[in-house]
Amino acid sequence: MAGFDLVVARGTLPDGRVADIGIRGDRIAALGDLAGAEAGQVIDAGGDLVSPPFVDPHFHLDAVLSYGQPRINESGTLLEGIALWGELKQVMTQDEMVDRALRYCDWAVSMGCLAIRSHVDVCDDTLKGVEAMLHVREMVKPYLDVQLVAFPQDGFYRDPTARENTLRALDMGVDVVGGIPHFERGMADGAASVRELCGIAAERGLQVDMHCDESDDPMSRHVETLAQETQRLGLQGRVAGSHLSSMHSMDNYYVSKLLPLMAEAELSAIPNPLINIMIQGRHDTFPKRRGLTRVREMQAHGIRVGWGQDCVRDPWYSLGTGDMLDVAFMGLHVAQMSSPDEMHRCFDMVTSENAAIMQLEDYGLHEGAVASLVVLDAGDPIEAVRLRPDRLCVISKGKVVAGKSRNDSSLCLPGRPGHVRRRHPL
Ligand code: FE2
Repeated sequence: MAGFDLVVARGTLPDGRVADIGIRGDRIAALGDLAGAEAGQVIDAGGDLVSPPFVDPHFHLDAVLSYGQPRINESGTLLEGIALWGELKQVMTQDEMVDRALRYCDWAVSMGCLAIRSHVDVCDDTLKGVEAMLHVREMVKPYLDVQLVAFPQDGFYRDPTARENTLRALDMGVDVVGGIPHFERGMADGAASVRELCGIAAERGLQVDMHCDESDDPMSRHVETLAQETQRLGLQGRVAGSHLSSMHSMDNYYVSKLLPLMAEAELSAIPNPLINIMIQGRHDTFPKRRGLTRVREMQAHGIRVGWGQDCVRDPWYSLGTGDMLDVAFMGLHVAQMSSPDEMHRCFDMVTSENAAIMQLEDYGLHEGAVASLVVLDAGDPIEAVRLRPDRLCVISKGKVVAGKSRNDSSLCLPGRPGHVRRRHPL
């Protein structure tokens, strides 16, 4: 057997198998019993959980770590957050955006998150946020996959230049078409925006990921239009609806009709449990709606559902750590996914399910896959969600990028030689 650059020995995989993983270059070259094989470096997992990396399919890198600027969101609502961000983006410089995003990427990588889909606001005629995030995407590319979504935060029609700026952003290399139909001036405009944005994606061969029905309004039904347009334009498997909070409040008969339509269109759903539980229901007294979409019900219909993080310390959400296990932990509770299979699935929803939503190539722990993996101080996926334990070692594309000793964790990111940072610098 030819030698390996690196062997991760005696790891427990998420499916319970115990195996050694042999890495050559940036690929997994072998998986099984590799005792006695030559290796440049051996990392002994000692029976701990070895997982494919965490994946975050919904984030906002342009706004991250801007909490409290220009002031705190007093009402805690989505709308006040949008208004605050509207002020902040006028004065924030491109360098500040890059710096904050890179700092967050360090946090995420140290927690084993090696792919992030980030929406980037295109409602600013300078498109400085788009330029900043394209720069960040390039800088972190050796160790972190960033997908960017053109996101018309102030409304594709409601903002006078959003349409043009969305197209400009896509021309500049933004990967995915976004939208925000529930923020247009009316339901008809919202539905029209879904139709036009899906048309743009079909023309350009791109994926779609829309903020969709992020409200407590039981009549906000843009996901129906999204499913319909996906079907009409042959975009099956390439479209995701983010949040879908209004489904929490919808009439049950209507949902019984909606879910099969979504399944038929192969739509994916990305609820964001930390932000949904914090922001939704703000206009209710009691009983107070919790605003998480119908996760188990969608899964029962065969709809792919992944957990997203959405925000960390920004105008919408004051907390957050970059740890996708925090997201899974909250999602498990709010969606009441308490059976052993469901708890295991919550782990899959921040790893393999999210990778499938983002259409990441060669993801997973198998021969030929990209050699990206995480060693966790836990025995299995359920224990990992319960404990949200230390990431003992993070390997990205064949290179060790983060590790943890008793009192410290540090990053050694390729392309940034000698660069060592503590996990949470703030
Ligand atoms: Fe979002």
